[in-house]
Amino acid sequence: MRYSDDLIEEIRLKNDIIDVIGGYVQLKRKGSSYFGLCPFHNEKTPSFSVSPSKQMYYCFGCGAGGNVFTFLMEYENFTFPEAVKSLAERAGVKLPDLEYSKEEKRKADQRSRLLQINKEAAKYYYVLLRDHKGCQGLEYLKKRGLSDETIQRFGLGYSDKFGGGLYKFLKQRGYPDEDLRESGLFNSDERHGMYDKFWNRVIFPIMDVNNKVIGFGGRVMGDGKPKYLNSPETKIFDKSRNLYGLNAARLSRKKNLIICEGYMDVISMHQAGFNHAVASLGTALTSPQASLLKRYTDEVLIIYDSDEAGTKAALRAIPLLKEVGLSTKVVNLKPHKDPDEFIKSEGSKAFEARLEKAENSFLFEVRMAERDYDMNDPQGKTDFLHYVAGRLLNFEDEIERNNYIESVARVYHIELATLSKLVGKLALKGAGIIKTKKPKSGIHSDREKESGTDKAQKLMLTWITSYPDIMEQITDYISPDDFTTDLYHKVAVMIFEQYHEGEINPARLLSRFDDSDETRKVTALFNAVIPLNSDAEKMQALSDVICNMKEHSINYRSSRLDPTDMQGLQEVMRDKKALEQWKENGIRLHISFD
Ligand code: UTP
Ligand code: MN
Repeated sequence: MRYSDDLIEEIRLKNDIIDVIGGYVQLKRKGSSYFGLCPFHNEKTPSFSVSPSKQMYYCFGCGAGGNVFTFLMEYENFTFPEAVKSLAERAGVKLPDLEYSKEEKRKADQRSRLLQINKEAAKYYYVLLRDHKGCQGLEYLKKRGLSDETIQRFGLGYSDKFGGGLYKFLKQRGYPDEDLRESGLFNSDERHGMYDKFWNRVIFPIMDVNNKVIGFGGRVMGDGKPKYLNSPETKIFDKSRNLYGLNAARLSRKKNLIICEGYMDVISMHQAGFNHAVASLGTALTSPQASLLKRYTDEVLIIYDSDEAGTKAALRAIPLLKEVGLSTKVVNLKPHKDPDEFIKSEGSKAFEARLEKAENSFLFEVRMAERDYDMNDPQGKTDFLHYVAGRLLNFEDEIERNNYIESVARVYHIELATLSKLVGKLALKGAGIIKTKKPKSGIHSDREKESGTDKAQKLMLTWITSYPDIMEQITDYISPDDFTTDLYHKVAVMIFEQYHEGEINPARLLSRFDDSDETRKVTALFNAVIPLNSDAEKMQALSDVICNMKEHSINYRSSRLDPTDMQGLQEVMRDKKALEQWKENGIRLHISFD
């Protein structure tokens, strides 16, 4: 059961977004919006905007955005019902009691049931660690130098020696086997039935950015194998899209984020005051994780183990981080193996100094490539320099390229003029250009799409929600079907529906998206930048967007047309003709943008 849409809307209307956010962030009026320092990433100049007319916020820096509910969910880590409750209280709206019957509980969607199971499991392990049965686990963690506060902060736990405790605990609370199996917390075989996956291990709950437990890692307390056992991927646990510790690190307000390899590394760094550390989840860093990092920072420090495997992993991570626009540095821990060991033997001051001395990732790559050449041999050194010159060519920005040429020349004792000439010669030949490899899936293709049709569709949604009065004329030209990207189409359908019902209300529409990633994307749709001043300029820009969208939509539809679909064909032809006319005669909009 959930609160009715009307009730949710009533609560939203009674909580003006400027008042609510103003309680957390200092806001200053600028034109029709308010601006302040973004609470979701570290910044010095305000790019966090709150719009009283749209009743939405949006950060032009990190892309955080949403309505009042989303704000509390992100800032206070509330669930949606918790945010509703808190704002209802604030506005003095009385909420009906939400009673969950057993039947309703079963019907509630599986995701939330799995989250619930993970939460209960985390509690179970947590309590056990503090029980006399968990003293061995507690002793182990203490021996590794963790304070009570740290153990508490990371919600660490213990799974006992007998593999049936958690199963029994959850069965008593009424969870059916089917859900328990989906949770990944149990194994099963014919002889024993279902039994706990984790036993006799210290437990590290893994949380997403909203502090929801989505999985676990369990470590043996000694030298057994495997050292760590992890939850398998489940409907709520996607290892390629989450990072251990990000829930805390994202609020650290440091100038960068640290990416490392292990749970224990994250925990000991946080304990030593480096609370901006995160780790991947027992797998190599992925593109979605790089994008996730980019949401919260512009710079990443890689601190991987100082062995060969760590170096290789760093070399693989660098291009992924670059690809999403993160600047990247690599921290050297030698002679120690990992951050945990480093901090234990040298302390946090020395660690801080290593962070300061982090090496630019390009220079790191070049230094590692050097190992493949015999630098004492004139031919080896020549080959190496040609390789480096080829890499240097990849910097498109001339100033940046020259800066790197200068650095490389300095490090490898080459005349600056000589290296510059070599790079210039290679450029002329068009040789040596090693295009950075495109990842097979994910971000890159997303970004390519964004440049064309998506941009026009996004702009259109911004136009409509910023100036709802234009809808009357827009509907003569554009329909929801002209929005060809899935999410945009979904949003456009809702907006047009709202328009026909009498009021365009983007903030209300947002309450329908539960997934915070989607909310963020939708908010961005309403906040494309329209950098124009005069009404004439606006009118021109708007007709351009209309033509642009129509053109894409015609191409899109004709490429998907079933040849026997006569009606579809006619529609496309008709639109084509109309578009030609608009282009020839211009679109006549009569709009005032006040
Ligand atoms: P490490 O072996 O470096 O472990 O693996 P660690 O973090 O330094 O842990 P301690 O200090 O020995 O306790 C790094 C990460 O790789 C994954 C875990 O996520 C671990 O944190 N891993 C490692 C596994 O998933 N399974 C393993 O058996 C080992
Ligand atoms: Mn390690």
